[in-house]
Amino acid sequence: MTFTRRSFLGVAAGAAAVAAVGSPIPALAANKPLTIGFSQVGAESEWRTANTASIKAAAKQAGVNLKFADAQQRQENQVKAIRSFIAQRVDVIAFSPVVETGWDTVLREAKAAKIPVILTDRAVKVSDPSLYVSFIGSDFVEEGRRAGRWLLEYDKQLGGKPLNIVELQGTVGSAPATDRKNGFAEVIAANPKLKIIRSQTGDFTRAKGKEVMEAFLKSEGKNINVLYAHNDDMAIGAIQAIEEAGLKPGKDIVIVSIDGVRGAFQAMVQGKLNVTVECNPLLGPTLMQTAQAVAAGKPVAKRVTIEEGVFPADVAAKVLPTRKY
Ligand code: AHR
Repeated sequence: MTFTRRSFLGVAAGAAAVAAVGSPIPALAANKPLTIGFSQVGAESEWRTANTASIKAAAKQAGVNLKFADAQQRQENQVKAIRSFIAQRVDVIAFSPVVETGWDTVLREAKAAKIPVILTDRAVKVSDPSLYVSFIGSDFVEEGRRAGRWLLEYDKQLGGKPLNIVELQGTVGSAPATDRKNGFAEVIAANPKLKIIRSQTGDFTRAKGKEVMEAFLKSEGKNINVLYAHNDDMAIGAIQAIEEAGLKPGKDIVIVSIDGVRGAFQAMVQGKLNVTVECNPLLGPTLMQTAQAVAAGKPVAKRVTIEEGVFPADVAAKVLPTRKY
């Protein structure tokens, strides 16, 4: 199994294309500190906690005045926060959208107020791409594919055994849930012996991951060979459910998850999780650089993707001490 880990410093270099679109945004006076209004999804996972910490620390380091709002996983709270940032005349609005759709109206309001919008972490589906200037975040479809490729390879090593998979999806309507589902399904379609027998949302939280896994175990019992969780927190919650059902996570049920947070590495060291696909939450420095460039009237990349690795359990003990989140 491949083990790749590339530095986050490569992020800016990985930028796809330069495109500042839409109506011109007036450049900020050079001596005025930048004010960014940031609407965060919530505090649903270890990943999110690291993402928030990265944004707050980077803002402090860059001398940015950050107005931070936690949406508690609710789109209406994000819409309210964005409207309040517009009313406060912040220089830049940034947000990580809880779901993909339903943003056109509020983003048009930001555009009319000539306040540039930067998306971080999650994408939106809007009718007019000039409603935001840049999107900084991972390629979630590729993350799902990586999880699928790991499983195909694992199955090859087993000699091509039929495997029943249960899937814990992220928040319904969110980009990572949709994309990770699609990427994984696309790859495992190459092997008809790999079947997803149950798939349900666990909303990216440990508590829901545990609850849904309990239900899967109740209905499917020992039929389950593999758990594919869209994030580590749900996998960690499910591990508890599996143990409480008298089974061995990582052995009786192989577990594939996404994020690469410390909790996942600890579970791998304990032999309870088989692989985690990295999703880097340390987006703060890139967000600050992009916001400063936008405010200075400079062109920025429309899409900034992040290079990430795959960490199987056999490298966990070695890698754990180096993890930053
Ligand atoms: O949008 C990124 C996802 O959101 C992370 O994988 C998950 O842990 C978080 O809640």
